[in-house]
Amino acid sequence: MLTVSDTAYAIAHIRAVEALRPPGERLFDDPLAAVFDAAGAHAAEGTARFLSLPFFADGIRLRTRALDDVVRDALRAGTRQLVLVGAGFDTRARRLDEVRTTGTRAFEVDLAPVLDARHTLLSAAHAPDAPWDCAVPCDFSAPDLASTFVEALVAAGLRTDAPAVFVCEGVLAYLDRASIERTLAAVYRACAPGSRLAFDYGAYFFAEDSAEPVVRAAGFDGYDEVTYDVLWRRYLPGDPHENAWVCRLAVATRTA
Ligand SMILES: C[S@@+](CC[C@H](N)C(=O)[O-])C[C@H]1O[C@@H](n2cnc3c(N)ncnc32)[C@H](O)[C@@H]1O
Repeated sequence: MLTVSDTAYAIAHIRAVEALRPPGERLFDDPLAAVFDAAGAHAAEGTARFLSLPFFADGIRLRTRALDDVVRDALRAGTRQLVLVGAGFDTRARRLDEVRTTGTRAFEVDLAPVLDARHTLLSAAHAPDAPWDCAVPCDFSAPDLASTFVEALVAAGLRTDAPAVFVCEGVLAYLDRASIERTLAAVYRACAPGSRLAFDYGAYFFAEDSAEPVVRAAGFDGYDEVTYDVLWRRYLPGDPHENAWVCRLAVATRTA
């Protein structure tokens, strides 16, 4: 039976396929995605279902690149902590040179079995854990998340008195409303002023239409979002796909 964690294989597949494009057309380079893609045979049916959705693959490509740029901007501004919230098989902490060259600490938070699979597959591919990179098991649906999230990150070395960039990519769609609110509040508790949280979501996902009220209720005092037709015009040639406006990429900030 497919689990929510198997969705990580679908995303890895799209990132692996990016390598087949000519270099000038690639939105990112993710050499390790092929390792996870090759291990995802059991999830192939679910992956095929995702791929048959209109705009799914291009949407993942666009958000991957846009979130890479959010991380690059944060590092350029002096942030030295990266937290992947629902990391799955995201290899951003290794494939963005800036993470290593700036001495940024990276934390990958996900369910323990996913992190174990990630570790096993990378080790088998002779890509063992990078010294700046730390796995942090956590279940975002746990009722005590408010304390466990921050405690687990601090135990792993996160400094809550220094800014961090949090990336929550492709995750909120798998959480219920209470878990989303708890996750946003838990991230906020881990944020020093100057931190940012980037995430994606779809139109109609929140009863309030925009994620902004939910994000502000969690404590964040800054909020900005773009729809993917804007991202398409930024990163891809031609006119945006007709469904691109449905997807949104948001950046919440804690300024004070
Ligand atoms: C679609 S994948 C995206 C993975 C990664 N962010 C990426 O872009 O490659 C969704 C991820 O959310 C994680 N996830 C879903 N529900 C979760 C929960 N309750 N607690 C922790 N992680 C969860 C899954 O394990 C999976 O790795």
